[in-house]
Amino acid sequence: MELTIQQQLEKLEHKPTTSRSKTETFQLAQELLKKMTLAEKIGQMFQLAPPEANVEGLKWEHREENSSAKLICEGKVGSILSVTDSETIFKLQKLAVEQSRLGIPLFFAADMIHGCRTGFPINLAMACSFDPDLIERSCRQIAYEVAHTGLNLTFSPMVDLVRDPRWGRVMESNGEDPYLNSQLAAAYVRGYQQGDYSSAYSVAACCKHFVAYGAAEGGREYNTVDMSERELRQHYLSGYKACADAGVASFMTSFNIYDGVPATANKFILRDILRNEWQYDGFVISDYTSSYEMIDHRTARDAREVALQSIVAGLDHEMVSMTYLEHLEELVISGEVEESLIDEAVIHMLQFKYQIGLFDDPYKHLYADREQYMRLPETLNLAKEAALKSVVMLKNDNQTLPLAKQKQKIALIGPLADSNQVVGAWGSLARNEECVSLLSGMKSLIGGENILHTAGCDILGNNRDGFAQAIAVAKSADIIILAVGEDQSMSGEAKSRAYLNIPGVQNELAQALKALNKPLIVIVFSGRPLELGWYAENSDAILQAWFLGNESGSALASILFGDSNPSGKLAMSFPYTVGQIPVYYNQYNTGRPSPNGEYSEYRSCYIDVPNYPLYPFGYGLSYSKFEYMDLVIDKKVLAAAQQLTVSVKICNTSEISGEEVVQLYIKCKNFSVARPNRELKRFKRVMIPTNCSKIIEFTIDKSDLAYYNAEMKSTPENRDYIIYVGSDSNADLSAEFSYLS
Ligand code: BGC
Repeated sequence: MELTIQQQLEKLEHKPTTSRSKTETFQLAQELLKKMTLAEKIGQMFQLAPPEANVEGLKWEHREENSSAKLICEGKVGSILSVTDSETIFKLQKLAVEQSRLGIPLFFAADMIHGCRTGFPINLAMACSFDPDLIERSCRQIAYEVAHTGLNLTFSPMVDLVRDPRWGRVMESNGEDPYLNSQLAAAYVRGYQQGDYSSAYSVAACCKHFVAYGAAEGGREYNTVDMSERELRQHYLSGYKACADAGVASFMTSFNIYDGVPATANKFILRDILRNEWQYDGFVISDYTSSYEMIDHRTARDAREVALQSIVAGLDHEMVSMTYLEHLEELVISGEVEESLIDEAVIHMLQFKYQIGLFDDPYKHLYADREQYMRLPETLNLAKEAALKSVVMLKNDNQTLPLAKQKQKIALIGPLADSNQVVGAWGSLARNEECVSLLSGMKSLIGGENILHTAGCDILGNNRDGFAQAIAVAKSADIIILAVGEDQSMSGEAKSRAYLNIPGVQNELAQALKALNKPLIVIVFSGRPLELGWYAENSDAILQAWFLGNESGSALASILFGDSNPSGKLAMSFPYTVGQIPVYYNQYNTGRPSPNGEYSEYRSCYIDVPNYPLYPFGYGLSYSKFEYMDLVIDKKVLAAAQQLTVSVKICNTSEISGEEVVQLYIKCKNFSVARPNRELKRFKRVMIPTNCSKIIEFTIDKSDLAYYNAEMKSTPENRDYIIYVGSDSNADLSAEFSYLS
């Protein structure tokens, strides 16, 4: 009798996988390539979407039922997208290995972006930890879960630099700063791949979306990107370069055009920068149907021209689109495409498969009972640590927080007060029903007797029926905690917003509660920076809670009642109003800077709002009080071969121990091209016990001073510089030095 799939999974014995050098995988790939027909080679360049993929409207052949199986058996599929159940993975792999002529295994890829079965905070929230070590440790745990689902590659990290919170995908990013982005990007790759993705516990990573997708005009999804090459190189490339340097297994192209050419067929981006300048030797995959979309960009007449442009530009693997599958063979036969271009791409794909160990064990990462590897206590602990470090305290007048655990009656109000919809977009296999809501987190910490809860209203819509109840509840309490924000489905892919307000009638509810004149603590859930001006003026304390994943409520309760001290710092500025966008800290001075960013006639400013944001990059409060002093640099003139040592003393003058993120910015006084007013160059997260001080040291050298000059060369020039050190991007402790090569 034939065994069921489950029984076959149970009988699987995993074979050891060998870690191989690039030279070895290259030789193995070349040997295999010799045995392949042209059609089989092209098959390795295609990533098949799962049957339920939304491909309606795109008229391709091969979409009929069971065609997936047919294509796999014919050796026309290289990998599978977003199939995450072990049984299907096993079935498809068995077809490839046993039915296709050469038995080349498939690899399986999906978006495990901020967690797998365990939901970690959204990436923008984790970036607020300014903690590469935390990100690396988190990604190790995430990789462990991904590696036990049967998947080989995660489409993460997303390292698009972002300056426009209207874009729904800022939630996936590391925020607005090139240096922070690059430090965190590398940490993601180290955590997922652990130096060797052939192991049973690591997975391959994919750096996306190459290139500059975060600069989509107007924050509108899939929109045009247009920027100077200097801006691209100086600010936007750092995250991608950091991934390449960290050995990321693959790169994904973006949907947008860069300088008029879609990234997916952009030779300047894919060959000149990625392959030639960076010497990148992993594989390059397109984004979902981004190849086919070149027809709508109107840069290609038809799918045949798309295939031609993409292979010439250096695209190795097509996600979902079938232009390679349908046209490459004929393009080679007609002599329009050299077969060597195809060989080059197929070698990248086969090298990856050898590297990952799929030829040793095609069923690698498949387990009959995978749930036993998921949501382990250590993973949940780490998700809680990540949540604690992601929360940013934006306001805390008169030490409203932390709250005493007993004394007062608390009215907990708002549509997000008892919501477990806090996994956040790209939640992968994490489940909302397993997330701790704010109310349950508070109840577990202090019991339920002193908490009076009511929602008051919904996130969206204009139903005010719950207002009266909310006001009654608030009247009978000593303090009000109001949990407001966006629904988690309002950020993520294709979730651009033109307004950045807290939606529905939530603001009205807040105003009604404010009129009661009781202490008002606001907790904001969102996937992006929102306009919080009214709250900044009218509340006593604000916690920015993002979407924190499984441990959301327990982490927030721990902070509210002082078991944990908030330490997150904004990775993205919060605007006063959407009209200021883009508003980011590293802006240029202009020829007519406005005094202090305020209105002044014939200066670069607005008549109705300041230039600066409501809350700047790097900003975040603590229950501790940190004082910065004694900034010392060890030389006044820095030479090319030297390092500059910067030290600063930080005193915690409070009765509460806490972690502080110390930030170092430079300003170049003048340069051959305009440079930003401030550039983050170092940061360090340090614990400073109560009533103690610490001396923190940083070293920088000429590479930190370098900037793409008028000749497009990265150089520090012989110039005067100012160092600023402090707790956010407005740091004012400063010291000056000159660079002399
Ligand atoms: C997104 C990518 C994602 C891919 C596969 C696309 O729509 O832009 O970020 O990796 O889908 O799910």
